[in-house]
Parts: sequence; structure tokens; C-alpha cells
Amino acid sequence: MKGLRIEGHGLDSVKLVADLVAPNSSHLEPNQVIVKVKAAALNPNDVRMALGYMTLFTSAAVPGVDVAGIVTAVGSAVSRLSSGHRVHGLAHFRACGCFAEYVVMNEDSLVLIPEALSFSHAASLPCVAETSLQALQAADLRSGQSVLILGGSGGTGSAAIQIAKAIGATVTVTCSERNSELCKSLGASETIDYNKEDFGTRTGQYDVVLDCVGANANFGKGKHVLRRGGRFVAIAFDTDNEGPLTVGRLLKFSLSLSCTKVLSWFSSCSFQFITCFGDRRLLEQVDTMVKDGKMRAVIDSEYRLEQFREAYDRQATGRVRGKVVLIVEDSE
Ligand SMILES: NC(=O)c1ccc[n+]([C@@H]2O[C@H](COP(=O)([O-])OP(=O)(O)OC[C@H]3O[C@@H](n4cnc5c(N)ncnc54)[C@H](OP(=O)(O)O)[C@@H]3O)[C@@H](O)[C@H]2O)c1
Repeated sequence: MKGLRIEGHGLDSVKLVADLVAPNSSHLEPNQVIVKVKAAALNPNDVRMALGYMTLFTSAAVPGVDVAGIVTAVGSAVSRLSSGHRVHGLAHFRACGCFAEYVVMNEDSLVLIPEALSFSHAASLPCVAETSLQALQAADLRSGQSVLILGGSGGTGSAAIQIAKAIGATVTVTCSERNSELCKSLGASETIDYNKEDFGTRTGQYDVVLDCVGANANFGKGKHVLRRGGRFVAIAFDTDNEGPLTVGRLLKFSLSLSCTKVLSWFSSCSFQFITCFGDRRLLEQVDTMVKDGKMRAVIDSEYRLEQFREAYDRQATGRVRGKVVLIVEDSE
């Protein structure tokens, strides 16, 4: 089958190949399904994986964790899904495999796509919406509270704005001026242009800060903009400090997260770092918001599988508005 394969390090090492072994239904584990991939979405980690930064976490040759497609075969213990179902979901980041014509996934990572949602839109939601929902739930964001989202215009930020708004919170985001209208159209009441204003000057204004830009670097300021008892939740590594994730760097990052956590005990607010491993119950909640008209996928750009290099280049700019999507098979 056709798909992308990483054959070394660097964006040039991502190749479109036709000799990937297609999954065989007779080899499925009881809880697994085969999905014929229609669309898949890129994430910052796909770029890091191509650059060779993620070898500590995954040795998968075929990248891609966000998928939408059609079930073609199910394992013996699969109960919710059958062949022909339109599904979307988040593959485990160790397994990946979604940038190909077929992928094998656990039934528990997939849910039915809401009617009227295209494959492209459905592929754009799992990773960013599940992560944002998990983070805002961890922060216990409630109706009537105020949240500051750092990085409102990217994949996670654009999902988080809508989720926070659906919860009933008042949403402020940091974004560049060109993305202000987009963030407001998604539900932000106010935007802070991070090129002109330091969000750290907004002392004591928010109940929750969700940091989609860079964990520790922002907590120092974040704790001052929180009210007493406020919660700072981070999902992103410090982007000023990108590079191969070696055991040493991972230990350093974990240590600095722990120090930040300990520091937070002496301040009036809490600090958490969230890692999303994919949970279909989160995606089901997101899909309910989609059906209720409270959530939409934000697509930056779409590329055919053959145009994968342009898609990777676009994602690698770090300037995407919403999601970059790969169309693997172009029909509904
Ligand atoms: N912990 C987890 O489980 C988890 C899950 C998903 C993602 N993540 C991580 O979370 C981070 C964000 O992911 P993403 O998918 O949202 O990335 P993304 O879509 O690539 O984010 C790009 C956006 O970030 C904005 N941005 C860049 N620098 C900014 C700054 N200093 N202040 C405000 N906005 C800024 C850009 O806007 P401008 O063009 O205006 O600068 C752009 O719209 C990544 O590091 C990703 O790996 C973690």
C-alpha cells in the first residue's frame, strides 16, 4: 500500500512509498480494527519525529496519529464498530501509522464521525481537541470563570477556545494580530497581541491559564496573572529549547517540571503538565459539542498525500492557523 515512511533524519527523509505492507485482517488482535484512511492531520510532533527528535518515544516508520476513515475489518472482541463505519480517532504516539492507505488501531481510540462532518474536518479534531479538553478538565474550568489561553490560533489553541467557551468561561488568548479575528470568531472575548503586549502585566485576572506555547518559560509570568487558587495547565515543551529528545534532555525537562511544581506549592496557584494519550470518551464529548454547533474544526490547509512535503513544510513553520490536513483518499 501507499503511505509515508521516515527513512532517516530531516524533513527530506520523509518519503512517499508504495511498498508498505497492508494490514491483514487475519492478524488482528481481538480489540483492533483496520481503518481505510481518508484523511489524516499533522501535528508538531510529526515534524519532530521526521527531524529525529522523538526516537526515545517511538520507532514507528509510518508517521501520523490523527485519522478519519472507514472501518474495513474488526477483531474478534470488537463490539462498537463494524465494517463500513465512518470513524475518527487518535493513534497511540508510539504506534502512529495514520499517513498511509490503511492503519490498524485499537477500537478504544476510535469513535463514529458525527453525520455531516467531512473526513478532513474529522481528522483535524482528535489530538488537539482531546488534549485541550483533558487540560481544561484537569484545570477544573467552570462556567463564569475566566481563562487565558497562550497560543490561541494553533491546533490546540483553536480547539481550546471553543471548549472553554462551551464550558461557559470568558476566554482571553494570546495570538499575533493577524490571528485576532480568527480567535474572536471561535469565541475569544479578547486577544492579546504577544508581539506588542506582555501577558504577564495582567496581574490577578484569570482563574485558569492554559499554555499551548511553552511550559516552564511561561509559568513564571503565568502565576502572577492568576487569581488566588488559580490553575496553570501546560501541554507544550519549551519551544525555545527544541532539539532531539535525549534521555538527558528528558530528565532535565522532567526535573524543571518538578521544580516548577514544587515552586507552585509556595505560590497561591497550582501547576500541571498534561500529556494526552488518547481517550475515546474525550473525543465523544468533543463530538457532542460538534453536533450541538459549539465546536468546529479549523483547517489551515489541505494537501493530497502526494503533496506531503508541502504539508510538512507548512506545519514546520510553527505559524499554522488550526490544522494541516493530508487527504489520503479523496472521496466521501
Ligand atoms: N501534551 C500533549 O499531549 C500535547 C498534545 C498536543 C500538542 N502538544 C504540544 O502543544 C504545542 C502546541 O500544539 P499546536 O498543535 O497548537 O501547535 P501549532 O498548531 O503548530 O501552533 C501554531 C500556532 O502557535 C502560535 N504561536 C507561536 N508562538 C506563539 C506565542 N509566543 N504566543 C502565542 N501564539 C504563538 C502561532 O501563531 P502566530 O503565527 O500568530 O505566531 C500559530 O498559530 C506543541 O508544542 C505540541 O507539540 C502537546
